[in-house]
Amino acid sequence: MAKKKSAPVSRSGRFASGPSADVARFSESISFDWRLWKHDIQGSKAHAAMLRRIGILTARELAAIHRGLDAIASEIEAGKFQWKLELEDVHMNIEAELTRREPAGAKLHTGRSRNDQIALDIRLWLREQCDCLSREVRDLQRSLARLGERSRGVVIPGYTHLQRGQPVLFAHHLLAYVEMLDRDLGRIADTRERMNVCPLGSGALAGSTLPLDREFTAKLLGFVDRNGRPRLSQNSMDGVSDRDFALEFCGAAALLAIHLSRLAEDVILWASSEFGFIKIADAYTTGSSLMPQKKNPDVAELTRGKTGRVIGSWVSLATLLKGLPMTYNRDLQEDKERLFDATDTVRACVTLMAAMMDHTQVCPKACAAAASDPLLLATDLADYLVKKGVPFRQAHHAVGKLVACAEQYGRPLDQLSLDEFKAIEPAFGPDVLGMFDLTAAMNRKQIVGSPGPAQVARQLKRLVR
Ligand code: ARG
Repeated sequence: MAKKKSAPVSRSGRFASGPSADVARFSESISFDWRLWKHDIQGSKAHAAMLRRIGILTARELAAIHRGLDAIASEIEAGKFQWKLELEDVHMNIEAELTRREPAGAKLHTGRSRNDQIALDIRLWLREQCDCLSREVRDLQRSLARLGERSRGVVIPGYTHLQRGQPVLFAHHLLAYVEMLDRDLGRIADTRERMNVCPLGSGALAGSTLPLDREFTAKLLGFVDRNGRPRLSQNSMDGVSDRDFALEFCGAAALLAIHLSRLAEDVILWASSEFGFIKIADAYTTGSSLMPQKKNPDVAELTRGKTGRVIGSWVSLATLLKGLPMTYNRDLQEDKERLFDATDTVRACVTLMAAMMDHTQVCPKACAAAASDPLLLATDLADYLVKKGVPFRQAHHAVGKLVACAEQYGRPLDQLSLDEFKAIEPAFGPDVLGMFDLTAAMNRKQIVGSPGPAQVARQLKRLVR
């Protein structure tokens, strides 16, 4: 950051001096909001085009402003632009440099305030981030589905209370996450839609006396509805102080991160020696500095850990907003680091989890061993009795007694004799022993949403071409 003193553009006139050095350091945002530069320039170019349209800029002035902004953009892109701390933020850095190069730059801020400018910039930035994140979430869904395809036919126990419950296809378990991610995509799309409103023209808080053509600017910046009609914020005070969209996005990101964290927890369990259901490729694990045998699922653990940060960003933002009087308050500058961090973190987690799933193999033997536990089919036995006309409560009781007997005899449930079955519930017939065939059991699961092969194949087909 250059030390050179130049009067910050917003202070000229009213102030005899610039802020003290410690105030400048305390209040600057350039160290983090510089990353909005592309959107700041995009907004300025559109605003200038509108000023030309309403006769405030000449064609020559507009061309000079566009030329200057393009040159600045190339320099920033090439890493050659000098950001100055004393110019406080991205808006003033770019405007001051533009004006230094092109005198017409002094007209750019006509009818605009940094308050509607920053409200615009974050919207433009976040709109793009929503699109990137959605793409990455869809990629993760496909990675999960591909792992499901690679594990075709593999059955594992499904758990409740982390106790074995009923058998499910491994792919069915993965597809549960695909469903969660579908809802995340819905929330991101919803946030994007609500956010896609142009605040330019709100000014500092009270609009403008100039005949700004807000619709023209909105159209240029893509703030349009499905039919191409411009979407404008309808209240200048709300226009500059609304950060609902940032909070909504952080909320959507937090829930997405919570889903990833749950997936991470499953992966960590599955990769343990106790489960042994999966093997993660070396490149997506780390070793221990002390224990030579260790292969740790750090990507999953960090995803689980980073989720706390994303949730924290939502909490920080909500706390930031809750007591603000109308309209813009400088507190709002604190929104960006939280929003940036939540976005960067959740995007990194989604991308890394997808890559890890693509480098994970299922271990069919360990899965088969776990899924061969006949107790997993106790519920199927109760359903069997129901089909023979036994009331479900009675069937549940009978199978419970069978399980207790098997435990008492020290034999697995499927090793009881027909006589032993019948002694507990006479409705059992010779076909009961066939109930323990796992493939047949999976094929019995046919209704929509169930973990049988036909339903799972239908879901996978949607995702893997
Ligand atoms: N850096 C400021 C922010 O992020 C930009 C708007 C400043 N407006 C003002 N009136 N100081 O909120």
